[in-house]
Amino acid sequence: MKLLDGNYCAQQIRLEIATQVASFKAEGRRAPHLAAVLVGNDGASRNYVGMKVRDCEEIGFNSSLLHLNENIAEADLLAKIDELNADNDIDGFIVQLPLPKKIDEKKVILAINPRKDVDGFCPENVGNLCLGFPAFISATPNGIMELLRRYDITTEGKHCVVLGRSNIVGTPMAILLSRNASPGNATVTLAHSRTVNLKEVCRSADILVVAVGKTEFVTADMVKEGAVVIDVGQTRVSDTSRKSGFRNVGDVDFDNVKDKCSFITYVTGGVGPMTRASLLQNTLKAYRQNQGAHYV
Ligand code: GUN
Repeated sequence: MKLLDGNYCAQQIRLEIATQVASFKAEGRRAPHLAAVLVGNDGASRNYVGMKVRDCEEIGFNSSLLHLNENIAEADLLAKIDELNADNDIDGFIVQLPLPKKIDEKKVILAINPRKDVDGFCPENVGNLCLGFPAFISATPNGIMELLRRYDITTEGKHCVVLGRSNIVGTPMAILLSRNASPGNATVTLAHSRTVNLKEVCRSADILVVAVGKTEFVTADMVKEGAVVIDVGQTRVSDTSRKSGFRNVGDVDFDNVKDKCSFITYVTGGVGPMTRASLLQNTLKAYRQNQGAHYV
């Protein structure tokens, strides 16, 4: 079993981007600028957004954090988004999900200018991804593709099972794996809560990507010997033995699954850092586009 080290790969990506940022600055240009909108005080969301802002600082990006009250009216949030859309100094921005229940997430996503949608959540970007046109690709699936690429894991002709059909992970993941590209060219099954014989379906996977948000959902009897297992899950569970009072648990029963795998990610240091690195890559792309470079 080999651990897929997302921390290491993400660090490499940050170094690559930092070099480019240094050259922009040396040419007298401003740095790329990412803004993050955080509504409310959910601990996990605060933590994720905090890490995204720290990543920006590390590589020389400008960043802005808009921390809004959880009782903000939907109309006021939409007005903030309009301001960000209009601000030429901001290349891209994200609105951290989930949002408070009384705010319609769909309306918020639709309000984001697709050219600044570095999360790749807008219909225009999802549609372009499906058609194989240039697009901002959702950071988690894009980060997983980068991890597969950097570890030279062959996907062509393989059976990939994606467990979970969310708009931001499972669905774009299935599209990326099936595209005529490298990595890609896989035969993909998108499995979900209504899939019949889920255990057998998972056991037929050469590559299993798990994004169901249920702790230790995938057990050893669901995994083929030699499979590649990618765990997207990260759920906080109470742990009084820790100073923080919690620990993160993945969607895969790592201790019992790991010895069956050729490659596997761990709940920390796996997919999470790659998601953040992908966001930085998308922001760099938005910057280039904003500065007049081709949309690539
Ligand atoms: N919530 C969980 N993952 C993400 C993400 O990648 N982007 C945003 N905006 N919210 C999230």
